[in-house]
Formats: sequence, C-alpha cells, structure tokens
Amino acid sequence: MQTQMWTVDKNVDNLKTYPHIIEAAQKLKQNEVVAFPTETVYGLGGNAENDDAVLKIFEAKGRPGDNPLIIHIADREQVFSFVKEIPEQASRLMDAFWPGPLTLILNKKDGVLSEKATARLSTVAVRMPDHPVALALVEASGLPLAAPSANLSGKPSPTTAAHVADDLTGRIAGIVDGGATGVGLESTVVDCTGEIPAILRPGGVTKEQLEEIVGEVLVDPALKDAKQAPKSPGMKYRHYAPNAPFYLVNGTKEEIQQLVNEKRNEGMKVGVMTTKENKAFYDSDVVIACGERMKLETVAESLYDTLRAFNQQDLDLIYGEIFPEEGVGQAIMNRLTKASGLPVIEK
Ligand code: TXA
Ligand code: MG
Repeated sequence: MQTQMWTVDKNVDNLKTYPHIIEAAQKLKQNEVVAFPTETVYGLGGNAENDDAVLKIFEAKGRPGDNPLIIHIADREQVFSFVKEIPEQASRLMDAFWPGPLTLILNKKDGVLSEKATARLSTVAVRMPDHPVALALVEASGLPLAAPSANLSGKPSPTTAAHVADDLTGRIAGIVDGGATGVGLESTVVDCTGEIPAILRPGGVTKEQLEEIVGEVLVDPALKDAKQAPKSPGMKYRHYAPNAPFYLVNGTKEEIQQLVNEKRNEGMKVGVMTTKENKAFYDSDVVIACGERMKLETVAESLYDTLRAFNQQDLDLIYGEIFPEEGVGQAIMNRLTKASGLPVIEK
C-alpha cells in the first residue's frame, strides 16, 4: 500500500478546510487509516463506528485485539452519542483538562461504536486532543476517531511523523505531518465509572493536577505491583523496548560509570541514557541526553525519541538514570520501567 504524506502547518487558520486535511479526512470517511499528530504522541486514526476501519488499525500496528482504543472527539456533544452518562467528577475533569492529555473511561452506550474498537468492553475510553490538526481531522471527517499511538505494537510511541513513517510506511493510507508533538508521553487514563476516579495509566496530566479538581484520586495498584492484573488492558504488555537489554540504575553517576567500565572491560558496547546535566560526565560508547533533569517536561518530551535513537546504535547493553516519581516523573518512570522490563539495579 502506498502511504501518502501530507505536510500541514498547524498554525494556519481554519485548518479543517485546508486541502490536505480534507483529503486525509476523505480517506477516513472511506474507512482507511491515517496517522496524525496530537499534543501527546502521533495517533493512528480510523472511523470508530466501522469494524473494517478498526480492524485496519489493529492490523497495521500488530496490536492484540483485546487492547481497546481511545476514541478522539472534537466537540463535547459528540461524547453523548456513545456514552451512557457523564458522572459529575468526569464532567469536572472535562471542564478542567479538555482539550488536553486526559482520557476518561466511561460507561458505553451499545450499538454505536465498533465493538472491536472497545474490545467488547462495557466501557469506552474518550479524549479531546489539544492539537489543531487532530481537532481539524475529527471535524472534517465528521467521525469519532479511534486512535492508538501510531507505532508498531511494542515500539516506543511516535513523537514525529518520521517515527510513524519508520514503523508504518506501506501499512497505512497516509500520515499527516504536523511537526513534533509537545507533551511526548501519552494521555493520562482515568477510570470514571467508580465512586472515586482512578488512574489506570499515568500521563500528561499529573495525579496532583487531577486532585486539585476532584479531590481524592486512586491509582490502579497494578501499576506498582506486577503480580496484579491491570485494569487498563494495554498496561499488561511490554512496551517501548529498546533492542538491547536496558537497565535502570538507582545510583549516582559515579556508580553508573563504574557499571559501564565493568561491562566495557568485558568487551561489551554500552549505552548510557542520562540528561543534559550529566552528559559530559560519562565515558562510554554511546551517551544520549534525554532532556534536562531540572525540567522533567523536557525529559517527557524527548523520552521516546531517545529510546528510538538507542535503536539506531548497535549496543550490547544500556544503563539509564532514574527520576523522582513526582508530577510528570510518575509517567516517565512508568514508561521507563516498561521499556526496561528488568529489575532496577539498586546501588
Ligand atoms: O495520548 C494518547 O492517549 C495517545 C494519543 C494518540 O491520543 N493514544 C494512546 O493510545 O496512547 P493507546 O492505544 O496506545 O493506549 C490506550 C490505552 C491502552 O492502555 C488501553 O488498554 C487503554 O487506553 N484503554 C482503552 N480503552 C479502555 C477501557 N475501556 N478501559 C480501560 N482501559 C482502556
Ligand atoms: Mg500505545
């Protein structure tokens, strides 16, 4: 399949009437799948009401069918067509964070969306992205768009159109290139079907920010305890994995350098994932800085690009620094732990 590339300036006025957007929306209306930027990561969109379109999303990504998709909307009224009710807490979260990196799990109205999109659950995940290109595409297509991250399953989520092209060229109808995304990590997923909202996946909106709006917020215990089944099906899969074994180290930069030296003495090619502050300190085969430790948003923004950059290198082993689990640090550590899939080395 020929994958078309449409380059769009996200700052132009009235994007939904822009020829490239109309063309991409046309593909969506024909139940083809198209990748597009959001403020978090690129999504792979398809008509959420159509089984064929949704099947194409799963096939292009190689995604397991039991992992439901997030439905993207541009207008709050759209939610009412496919959810049963909007609880008070959910409504307050929408007021505070939509459009934005927050996905809400609500009870689903039957018979509207493709059952494949929601993996036949009685609930549905919905979000309004804060990106002019995403909103214009939803509006121009007139459809709710099911859109997972536009990467091959298991790979880091894409934060540029080039990342999407690396993974999905030849597998999808097109890519709308609207530049690099901003937040860099996926949306926070919050279950609003119980009494107290519960975080199923940490992301762009922090626990602290949610608590300011709705008071108490729970966190799915499975996020900390690998023995429990996560409430968000996607969280059970290994994700974002670099090609080489990737160890996180809870230690000083001197201790990490010591580990590097030991492995290099054994003849291994070793990578280090650090931040701008410490980059010059390390002596190893490949040292990549992922943002600035003092500004965790910059770490979030470049995390997936950094993981992909390690995959361009032929390494035997990668060591990574850890981050405090506060604010966006929670989401960063969640993704790093998933990328590693190995126990943290405690120094
Ligand atoms: O920022 C984002 O959320 C990006 C952009 C493209 O919007 N999308 C994204 O989608 O990250 P995806 O498919 O990679 O992750 C969706 C997550 C998965 O962990 C999935 O299991 C969960 O949301 N999810 C979807 N529907 C759910 C439901 N009804 N109940 C619980 N979890 C659900
Ligand atoms: Mg994903």
